[in-house]
Amino acid sequence: GWSMEGYLEEVSASIKKRVGDHPVLLLISGGVDSSVVAGVLLSALDPEKVHLMYIDTGLMRKGETEAVRKSLEALGATHLSIIDAGDRFLHALEGVDDPEEKRRIIGDLFVEVQKSDIVGKIDGDYFLAQGTLYTDLIESGKGVGKNAKVIKSHHNVRSPLIEAKRNAGMIIEPLDRLYKDEVRRLGRLIGLSESVVGRHPFPGPGLAVRILGAVDREKCRILREADAIFIEELHRRKLYDEIWQAFAVLLPIKSVGVTGDARRYGYVLALRAIVSHDGMTADVYPFDTKDLLEISSLITNSVSEIGRVVYDVSSKPPATIEWE
Ligand code: XMP
Repeated sequence: GWSMEGYLEEVSASIKKRVGDHPVLLLISGGVDSSVVAGVLLSALDPEKVHLMYIDTGLMRKGETEAVRKSLEALGATHLSIIDAGDRFLHALEGVDDPEEKRRIIGDLFVEVQKSDIVGKIDGDYFLAQGTLYTDLIESGKGVGKNAKVIKSHHNVRSPLIEAKRNAGMIIEPLDRLYKDEVRRLGRLIGLSESVVGRHPFPGPGLAVRILGAVDREKCRILREADAIFIEELHRRKLYDEIWQAFAVLLPIKSVGVTGDARRYGYVLALRAIVSHDGMTADVYPFDTKDLLEISSLITNSVSEIGRVVYDVSSKPPATIEWE
C-alpha cells in the first residue's frame, strides 16, 4: 500500500537519479510547500548542490523573511540568497488594481529578479525545483480532467522560465501528487519544525492579493500590522491549528467612524478564517463571538488607520478563499 515513507524514498531516489551532478535551484516562498521541498532536496542531495533563493517582494507578512532564514538554516541550507526586491515590486505595482494584472506583474518580476539576481551565480545547467501541489495543477487547469478550468493564474505554475525548464525536462516537483495535509505529514517525516509544518498557506503574490485595489507601501504596512495581530491572537487562543487558513484583507473603501467627538474615515478590514481539507472547498470557521469582538477591538485599538472590522462568512464555493 501507499505510505509517506515509501513516497519519500521514491521521490528522493528519482531526484538523485535525474539530477546527477547538476545543481538544483529552488525558489522559496516561505510557505510550507517550498520548505518541504527544500527539506527533501537537502536530504536527498549534497547540500552544496542545492541553491535556495528567496525573493523578499515587500509583500510578505510581518517578520516572515527572518523566520524563513532561520528555518532554512536549521535544515542545513548552505546556499541561501535572500534578495530584497521590495522596491522593485512596489514600483511595478503602482496604480495597478486589476487582480490578474497584479498577478501577472508579480509573476513576471519574479522571473526577472530570478534571472538578474541568481541564475548567473549557479554554475552549469541547473534543475528547477518547485513546490507545486496536486491541487495547484487542478486549479490552474494543467492536469486533471477535461473540465479543468483556469480559476486563478498561480504565477508559480506558469512563468516562461519554468515552462522552459519544463520543456527541457529539468523541473522537479516532488509534491505534485500530494494534497496539503500530506505535504505536512511529509514535512514532519523529514523533521521540519511544527511552526513551519503547521503554517497556514500563503499565496505567492502575497499581500498584493489581500490589498484590494492598488497596492502601496503604506497599505502593506497597515495590513501587515493588522494581520499579525489576528494571527498572534489565534495562536494565543489556541485556535491557529484548528483553522486551515486565516488572514486579513484590506478593503479599498473607507467608512466613517468616530474618535472623541470627530468623524473619521478609516479603512475597512475583513478577517477570513476557513477550515478545509485541501483548499478546493472551504467552510467558514465558526468563531465564538467573544473571540471576534476581542480581536476586532485589538486591531482597531492598535492600527489607527483601520476604523472597522468585518468577518467574511462566505464558504467556497461560491466564494474563493482569497478575495482576489
Ligand atoms: P482560492 O482563493 O483560489 O485559494 O480559493 C485556494 C488556495 O490557493 C491559495 N492561492 C494562491 N497560491 N499563488 C499561490 O501560490 C496564487 O496566486 C494564489 N491564489 C490563491 C490561497 O491562499 C488558498 O490557500
